[in-house]
Amino acid sequence: MNETTLISLRDVSKAFDGETVLDAISLDIHDKEFVTLLGPSGCGKTTTLRIIGGFEYPDAGTVIFDGKEINDVPPYKRPVNTVFQKYALFPNMNVFENIAFGLRIKKTSEEEIVTRVKEMLALVNLKGFERRRVNTLSGGQQQRVAIARALINNPKVLLLDEPLGALDLKLRKDMQNELKNMQQKTGITFIYVTHDQEEALSMSDTVVVMSGGKIQQIGSPTTIYNEPINAFVADFIGESNILNGVMISDFKAKFSGQTFKCLDSGFAPNEPVDVVVRPEDVDVVPLDKGMLSGTVTSVTFKGVHYEIIVDIGGFKWMIQTTDFVAVGEIIGLYIEPDAIHVMKKSEFSGMFGDYSSYSDELDRLSDVTEENE
Ligand SMILES: Nc1ncnc2c1ncn2[C@@H]1O[C@H](COP(=O)(O)OP(=O)(O)O)[C@@H](O)[C@H]1O
Ligand SMILES: [Mg+2]
Repeated sequence: MNETTLISLRDVSKAFDGETVLDAISLDIHDKEFVTLLGPSGCGKTTTLRIIGGFEYPDAGTVIFDGKEINDVPPYKRPVNTVFQKYALFPNMNVFENIAFGLRIKKTSEEEIVTRVKEMLALVNLKGFERRRVNTLSGGQQQRVAIARALINNPKVLLLDEPLGALDLKLRKDMQNELKNMQQKTGITFIYVTHDQEEALSMSDTVVVMSGGKIQQIGSPTTIYNEPINAFVADFIGESNILNGVMISDFKAKFSGQTFKCLDSGFAPNEPVDVVVRPEDVDVVPLDKGMLSGTVTSVTFKGVHYEIIVDIGGFKWMIQTTDFVAVGEIIGLYIEPDAIHVMKKSEFSGMFGDYSSYSDELDRLSDVTEENE
């Protein structure tokens, strides 16, 4: 990726039936970047992608490509190709003809078509599948054909809307790696849509976190994870304990009735803040060494670690530890300064970050509901 801006959205808004779906979003996408739009279902990801592709027009704001406004340029005149979740392959054609389609339309020579299709088959790991009918392929193989069919046109930008949504978990993981490789090999800018935070973190150069038609944060996966801008982002990306706190002074935060050293500064004296502590950043220690103490209310074995819920003064923390502790035990907890991340209060304050109502079953149920949409 380099720093040349390829696509800019400037204050783009869109409403359907009087309902605002995108609320003045602004975003720069750079040449060769792997950008992911991430957010819960209904937050406006697909609409954003469709506006970039030219399938929807913004009500207000501008779409800029290579320095030129393209608001009114139709999709087929944009240097953009799209891969949808439903692959939309031609069922009566074989793999070769599906992939060759775009070049045939452009009246490319047969010789070049053969060469290019071969390249694409190698790129998507489907060597030898030329003569297969697409309806005899697995879901994962069909998705590869769809990607090859889009990439053969050599677009500047590939738009991918939850392309792995229909695949099972193992295949998804493999395809995530392969897509990342394809993007790096071809140098094509990828704009990828998903509601899966793990997928977004593992594939992207840049993650754009959206909620309610607004962009909450734009940053690298590590920035988004380590320095979430507000309680929504902290909660949506990974697990987070989010405490009500006060920034006493620079490098001194108070929460859970104690004052902690931290690395944050620049807040007003005694400014109310939200404090994030990740479950993997809390150490279980003997009671007399603890900065905080609490009662273990549940223990779940997760393979690599135990996930425990600890009641600290009525607020339930999630903590990941490799030490075994028992339900009912009172334990000490230690938090290093760099494990504390302080955020400004926002409209999301108080909505997330307490594990009182948390259970594995609820977590699974909400995952299933999202996948069925
Ligand atoms: N063509 C449309 N007509 C009416 N409402 C739409 C249309 N497209 C999307 N919406 C609504 O806009 C909101 C955002 O949709 P979408 O961009 O598809 O979200 P996401 O992809 O993040 O799930 C949703 O409430 C959806 O119902
Ligand atoms: Mg969508």
